[in-house]
Amino acid sequence: MSRDRQAVVWTRQSGQPLKMGRLYITDTECRFSYELDYLSTQLPGLGLLYPPHIIQDTTIVRPRTEFFDFLPPIQALIPPREEKNFQRKLVLSYLAKNGIQPTPGIDADWEILKIAGHGAIGHLDVFQSDQKAMEWYAASANTELFEISDDIGFSLKEMLTWFDQDADSLINIIGPTPSVGGAIPKILLSIPDTGWDNRIGLPSRSVSHGRTDVLVKFEQNTAYPGINELEALALDVHKAAGFAVPRYWLSDIKGIPVLVVERFDRDALQTPLFTESLYSILATGDADITHHYSYSYDAIGTAIDRSPIDIISQRKAGKQHLLKRLIMSLLTGNGDLHLENMSVTINNQQNEFTPVYDPTPMRAYSIHNMLSVMPFGDYGELLEKSDHPVGLVEAIQRLARHFHISPSQLDEILQSCLAATEGFCEQVDQLQTLPDLNKSNLIKIVSRVRQQIGAMAEKL
Ligand SMILES: Nc1ncnc2c1ncn2[C@@H]1O[C@H](COP(=O)(O)OP(=O)(O)O)[C@@H](O)[C@H]1O
Ligand SMILES: [Mg+2]
Repeated sequence: MSRDRQAVVWTRQSGQPLKMGRLYITDTECRFSYELDYLSTQLPGLGLLYPPHIIQDTTIVRPRTEFFDFLPPIQALIPPREEKNFQRKLVLSYLAKNGIQPTPGIDADWEILKIAGHGAIGHLDVFQSDQKAMEWYAASANTELFEISDDIGFSLKEMLTWFDQDADSLINIIGPTPSVGGAIPKILLSIPDTGWDNRIGLPSRSVSHGRTDVLVKFEQNTAYPGINELEALALDVHKAAGFAVPRYWLSDIKGIPVLVVERFDRDALQTPLFTESLYSILATGDADITHHYSYSYDAIGTAIDRSPIDIISQRKAGKQHLLKRLIMSLLTGNGDLHLENMSVTINNQQNEFTPVYDPTPMRAYSIHNMLSVMPFGDYGELLEKSDHPVGLVEAIQRLARHFHISPSQLDEILQSCLAATEGFCEQVDQLQTLPDLNKSNLIKIVSRVRQQIGAMAEKL
C-alpha cells in the first residue's frame, strides 16, 4: 500500500483566488470534498455533474481505473500519456532538472499535476498545498510584453517559469525553439487585446486589462504540413454557418508557423470561466466511457435529454448545435469531432456549448481519413430487416429523429451548413501551405460527402 496523495483545488472564477476543496488519491480511489466556505459562494464546482449544492459536505468517491486515476475534471489537467507529447515532455524535463524523475504512470501524472495543474485551460487550479497556491497567486506574473524578434528564448523561459516559481533552468533543456512531436504542441500566452502584433507575454494570473489570453498551436511541418491555415479556414466557415468562433491569428514564431487562438475560458478581464469538455462531463456520469471517442452522437443526445443535472440548459438547442457541428464536420472533412473537441461553459447561469475549437479538416491527412471518429445513426451498420448497411443520408436522418429534430429543422441545418461551405473546395485549393496532394485528396473527399448531403437536402 502506498501513502495517500493529497492536493488542493483552488479557483479564480470570482476574480479572487478561492479554495474549492481537497483532493485525495488512495491506492484504489480518487476522492474530493468541497470546502464548507466554498459551498456558500454559489460558484460552479469541480465539474458540471458534481454541483456543490448537491454534493454539499459529502465526499465524492470514484474508484480508480486503468483509464481514470482521477476524477475526470482533474484528469483533464494532465497531458496525455504519450511519451512524445510536447506538453508532457515540457513538464517532465522541468521536473528532471529539479531532481524529480517520477516513474511513468500515476507517479509521473501526480508530479505533473502539481506543477502544470494551475493556470491551465478551464477554471480549476490544482496545487500541492494551500501555501503553494497562495504563493503562486501572490507572485505577480511578469506582465511585460516581449517583442518576438528580440529573444524568444527569454520569453519562453519566462513562460515556463510561470508554471512555478523556481523553473529557472528549464530553458537549457528546451533550447531556443520548442521541440515538436506527439499531439499538436501548444503553449499558453497572452497578447495585447487589440490583437496579435508580434508581442507576447505570459498568461494572466489575475484580473488583467488590455490583454487577451491565447492558446498558441505550433505547426508540425513534417507530420501535418499546412494544418494551421486549414484550421483557420475551418474556423471561418464555422463562423459563416453561425457558430461562435474565437478570434485567431496566423503568424510565426522564429520561423515556426503558429495559429494563435483567443481563449474562451477567460472573460474580458482574463478571469477564468467554468469550462469542461464533454469527455469529462460524460465520463463523470458514465463509467463505461474510457476514451475521448468511446461514445456516439446519439448517446450524447440521450445524455443531454435524460441527465437529471443539466448538461446543456436548453436541451433542444443543444442537440441542434450538436447535429449542426456534425454536419459541418462531415462537409469540411474533419471527422475528428470527438468528446474532447466539444466543451461546455456557463453563461448567465445557462450551461451551453463553448465557441468552436479544433475543427481542423483532418481528412486532408491520410492517416486521419475517416468519416467520423464517433458513430452516429448506426452509420455502416447492417440493421435487422435490411440487406444493406446504413448509408450516410439514412444515418443523418436516424440521428435527427433520435434528437427529435423535425425534417424541416433538419433541412434548415443542412441548408445553413451547405451555404457556409459552398466555396470550401475553392478555398482549400487556394491555401498557400497545404501540399497539393493533401488539397486534392481533401477536395475529393468533401465533394463526395457534399453531393450526398446536397441531394438529401433537396428531397426534404
Ligand atoms: N480557444 C480556446 N479557448 C480555450 N480552450 C481551448 C481553446 N482551444 C482549445 N482549447 C482547449 O485546449 C485543448 C487542446 O486544443 P485543441 O485545439 O483541441 O488541440 P489539439 O489539436 O491538440 O487537439 C482543447 O481540447 C480545449 O480543451
Ligand atoms: Mg483537440
